[in-house]
Amino acid sequence: MVTRVLFVCLGNICRSPAAEGIFRRLIDEAGLADRFTIESAGTGAWHVGEPADARMREAALRREVTLTSRARQVQPHDFEHFDYIIAMDASNLAHLRKQAPAGHHAALHLFRDFDPESPGDDVPDPYFGGAEGFEDVLDIVTRTGRSLLAHLRQERP
Ligand code: 4NP
Repeated sequence: MVTRVLFVCLGNICRSPAAEGIFRRLIDEAGLADRFTIESAGTGAWHVGEPADARMREAALRREVTLTSRARQVQPHDFEHFDYIIAMDASNLAHLRKQAPAGHHAALHLFRDFDPESPGDDVPDPYFGGAEGFEDVLDIVTRTGRSLLAHLRQERP
């Protein structure tokens, strides 16, 4: 059984591409690559077609993770195709809940509800800030991604 996971932020150029790339690395390391499909998307359309922000790609590369996503906007079909749609912040989650078709298949979650250190927080948007914001995002998505993977392995053994 393949588990399909979609990470969602606002622009799909910073936080959700980082979560996608880091989570893919975690499932590779766990030998579970054939059990998951991982993608990312944005609630907004400003950056559609663009690669991840260069600052995010460079910070990820320093951790030997290559971000390959091209930005796209969340589509109605995503709510049927994916098993889990994971929002990077509360505003993203509110957008998703509004947009979700009645009776949709995907389970919607706030990413940091799985963060063992600070559950329920937002992943801070690094777009308008300095370099440390990108490192902070990578620390958060690595720690929280590990915990999310453990949760999904229990829920879908
Ligand atoms: P992201 O960051 O949601 O983590 O991809 C942002 C990227 C771009 C914008 C906002 C947030 N923007 O306003 O263009």
